[in-house]
Formats: sequence, C-alpha cells, structure tokens
Amino acid sequence: MKTSIDCIVLENQMLSEDIYRIILEKPIDMEKVHAGQFFHIQPAEGGDPFIRRPISICALEQDKLHLVIRKEGKGTQAICSKKPGDKLNLLGPLGNGFTVSNEKEKVIVVGGGIGTAPMLELTKNLQHKDVKVLLGYRKDPYLVEDFCKITPNVQVAVEEGPGDYRGFITDLLEKEIQKESADLIYACGPEIMLKKVQQIGFHFGIKTQLALEERMACGIGACLVCSCKVKAQENGWHFVRTCKEGPVFTGEEVIFDA
Ligand code: FES
Repeated sequence: MKTSIDCIVLENQMLSEDIYRIILEKPIDMEKVHAGQFFHIQPAEGGDPFIRRPISICALEQDKLHLVIRKEGKGTQAICSKKPGDKLNLLGPLGNGFTVSNEKEKVIVVGGGIGTAPMLELTKNLQHKDVKVLLGYRKDPYLVEDFCKITPNVQVAVEEGPGDYRGFITDLLEKEIQKESADLIYACGPEIMLKKVQQIGFHFGIKTQLALEERMACGIGACLVCSCKVKAQENGWHFVRTCKEGPVFTGEEVIFDA
C-alpha cells in the first residue's frame, strides 16, 4: 500500500508560458524512483480541487525531486502557485517506468511538449548508450539546456518558431532514422505523437517504449478511468490500467484507437 508524503517546496521556476518547474525536498525514506513513474499530487490541502493530479518525475537529485508541470486547469494551477516553504502531498512513486538495459545500444529519446519532462531523468540513465535526444514543441522550447548538460546530441523541433528543425518532431525522427537507424526509441508526448512514433518503429523495425499521458482519477488502479487497450497474449485485445500496468508500454503491445 502506497502512503502519501508531504514534501516541502524549495523552488518554483516559470520555464515558459504556463510551464513551471517545482523543486521539492526529497524525503530520505522515499522509495526508489524510476524514470517514467509519476506522483499523484494533491493540489490543495483538504479541499478544492479534491482530485489529485498525476505528474511525471522530471529529475532526481540525492535530496531533491524536480517536477515540471503544465498549468492547464484548476488542479495544476493550484500546484503551480506553490511557493518555497509550502508543502505538497505526494502519493507514489506510482506506475511502471521505462526499462533500461545494460547493453550499449543506439537509442533515440523523443519528448513532445510536456512529455519532454520525464525524458530528462531517463536520458541521465542512458549515458552508457549511444543516445540522441529529439525534443518537440509547438513554440517556446523549455528544458533544452538541461538536456544539453547530459548529452551534446540534442535537437529541437518547433512547429511555430525557431529551432533546429521547423515542423513536427515525428518528421525529424524519421529523417534522423533515415540517416542512422537505432535499436530502440523511447517516447513521451501526446497520443497523436506516440501513435506516429509507434508506426515509425514498426516501419523501420525499431523497438519502442511509449509513456502514455492518460487522464487519471485514483492513480492506484481502482477506478479504471485510465484504461487503455493492449494486445492480448493469444488473439484480440484487453484493457489495462495506465496508472498501474503503465504508464510505459511497448509499442508492440499498446493499441491506439484509430
Ligand atoms: Fe484509477 Fe487508473 S486512475 S485505475
């Protein structure tokens, strides 16, 4: 049974319009956290809004936890308004994160929009591999410098503004694979992007691990709000819970609706 923990806010930085980085004191007794897992965060103490919000882990330091949040509704607005010294109640870490092998393979990390956040901790864990990072934004990139501190192989695609590539991140991904293939693609972002990454993986014969951004309520597998389809072992498909069995699935197993 997961227990919730109160964490003290150390910093709150605005990274871009409606994008905030909240740095929290990481309790020493917090269980091991893996890239791709998330915390279910209570927006306000004992009240309104009541439902917790799932927020991916962006980065970990020995004694600090970084979360990057897009302010888009009442809940995330309350979380993003926290000031140093305030407390946030975290339930987690929850879900299954990315799988990282010890093999020295070629990997491509793809993050789209707020889906770039969990890829930062993942990229830190991939330094024994030949890693390339592709970040995609509609406009105004963020977190790019943080990625560049880990690897020089970072490219930015921006749909409406300056960047290394003008257009969709998935078009950049295809171009990069045509130049040099890879063994594995890790991706997080909106469903439309993940679906395309999955198709690219199938087309070029590259394995994929996809972190889904589903709506959640309980976050612990009880309410089924976050159900998604995966292939059944024999034939057909069945529903699983993104919060419990995911949020990371392989491209071979997850089924996106047409
Ligand atoms: Fe309730 Fe996943 S959010 S089962």
